[in-house]
Amino acid sequence: MYLASDNIGPALPEVMEALTAANQGHAKPYGNDPWTERASAALRALFEAPEASVHLVATGTAANCLALATMSQPWQAITCTPLAHIREDECHAPEFFTGGARLNPVGQAGDKMTVLELDAALSGLPQGVVHGSQRGPVALTSVTERGQVYTLDELGALCDVAKAHGLKVHLDGARFANAVAALDCSPAQMTHELGVDALSFGATKNGCLGVEAVIFFDPSDAWELELRRKRAGHLFSKHRYLAAQIEAYVKDGLWLDAARRANAKAARLVAGLRDLPGFTLAADPQANMIFATLPRATHKRLFDAGAYYYIWEGELEGKDPDEPLLMRLVCDWSIPEAEIDRFIETARNVA
Ligand SMILES: Cc1ncc(COP(=O)(O)O)c(C=O)c1O
Repeated sequence: MYLASDNIGPALPEVMEALTAANQGHAKPYGNDPWTERASAALRALFEAPEASVHLVATGTAANCLALATMSQPWQAITCTPLAHIREDECHAPEFFTGGARLNPVGQAGDKMTVLELDAALSGLPQGVVHGSQRGPVALTSVTERGQVYTLDELGALCDVAKAHGLKVHLDGARFANAVAALDCSPAQMTHELGVDALSFGATKNGCLGVEAVIFFDPSDAWELELRRKRAGHLFSKHRYLAAQIEAYVKDGLWLDAARRANAKAARLVAGLRDLPGFTLAADPQANMIFATLPRATHKRLFDAGAYYYIWEGELEGKDPDEPLLMRLVCDWSIPEAEIDRFIETARNVA
């Protein structure tokens, strides 16, 4: 009953087959191979962005940080939510890669950023004063770190605020496929058509072995990103193996199909848990992540019964058996329905 993350499952068989097929003979290194050319063309076609530049890396942290470093200056503030992965979970890599840009959290403990919060935060950074932060890019995430999906209107309105301040927008799409599946829109509609300038297009969590793509919809900064990627040690010499994964992942809508499967499993899971005694949703899940509380004693019994997931807030080893602790449940593309049902049944037995 593995529900801790979407990076604990296997890679898609199509991706593994593509890697085996790519594992023949010799190919030029550092991205000068036919797989890279085809994968970049496939992403440009998928995003209806013929000019876009595509840069492959192995981790989401590298994708986010190299993109943001290219988009900002060391004296700028990158505005994001307090719970943003770049702020909470990347070990200050954004500060490291940008050479000192500051992450400027917007909003309270909430998850999505609102237009009013963003506008107030940007307006609150005095410009032209040498002593303070200068305004830099706005960094959004969807699916958000708490499992929410910005509607196209919400995303568009945030992009409009950024543009009104003359700023660029980066989207952390570690779960981009799950967001597109939830919104039933096209990749273009969720990105450059709204004003998103750069995307970290996640693939690892949704069925690749290890590859993410930075996509710049305006390629003017492409060369700088190339230099930064090399300098950071993220330019793979055997680049064809990154590209072969992406090529298979986006072929015939595999990426979306995998995300739809993951989202459907999460919907099945939440439907089965909704009326469980002591179970309270933090928010209605919109993609493949569920945040909810259960009493400490129920968590303990679930873990004893073999469930594997993360307690997100609170300590399992506390005294009060009834204290609600926040958990995160994540479904990946591969989790069988029988596993979901086994988790639901176990939870019902121990609640
Ligand atoms: C929102 C978000 N962004 C980015 C990442 C990428 O992280 P990693 O560097 O582990 O691939 C993750 C992974 O947990 C994530 O949840």
